[in-house]
Amino acid sequence: MNIVILTGAGISAESGLGTFRDEGGLWAQHDIQDVATPEAFQRNPDLVHGFYNARRAHAAKAQPNAAHRALAKLEKDWRHNVDIVTQNVDDLHERGGSKSVLHMHGELSGALCARCGKRWKAPAVMSTGDLCAQCGQPGTRPDIVWFGEMPYQMDRIAHLLAQCGLFVSIGTSGNVYPAAGFVQQARMLGARTLELNLESSAGGSLFEQRRLGPATELIPTWVDELLS
Ligand code: OAD
Repeated sequence: MNIVILTGAGISAESGLGTFRDEGGLWAQHDIQDVATPEAFQRNPDLVHGFYNARRAHAAKAQPNAAHRALAKLEKDWRHNVDIVTQNVDDLHERGGSKSVLHMHGELSGALCARCGKRWKAPAVMSTGDLCAQCGQPGTRPDIVWFGEMPYQMDRIAHLLAQCGLFVSIGTSGNVYPAAGFVQQARMLGARTLELNLESSAGGSLFEQRRLGPATELIPTWVDELLS
């Protein structure tokens, strides 16, 4: 039985990275319209770069936690496929040992030329004056999917959802589509569904099963149960 695991900010919370919508979260401190839309980047690229430079520096200092490591163990020891589809832009799944990780909302470690589409590894600090190595034009941006843009690898995700027997959602509030709709997609295609979250999410009732608690406690226990 293949397993698809959708993760959100909650899995990185105990690594010290703030979530978006919890009290004091990122969207309480910053207006989405100022830092997370293509229009914001056109209007004030310095502000947007500053926001993502700070998040990149913060993420670089964070360490994967027991939940990231448990998912890596599951991928290694499960006899079928385990694929992580993450909304997170940090690299804690990879640093925790997971191999099959799909970043549907982009990555802090990536830079993208808004003009020609060239991608490369982002420097620690990106600035408005940076030129694209391929087309030589300014306008290089973080390789992050902003509000109003299409998440990455949707075809591949649809394929994985169609092939999985179990869909698990970890640490996401279920507020942002299309990720919030994956549970219905997976159910329609016959998968069992499980939510692991600190508290019940917006779409919590759509899951057949639910366990509530902090990720570093819930995930290692769940993985041990599956593997035993
Ligand atoms: P949210 O901040 O919306 O939700 C975080 C979820 O994690 C909440 O349901 C919390 O209850 C839960 N949580 C918090 N601490 C936890 C812990 N220690 N263990 C387990 N769960 C915990 O973050 P996301 O759902 O990831 O998109 O947000 C989805 C998208 O909205 C993000 O990818 C980002 C944001 O705007 C873009 O920027 C495009």
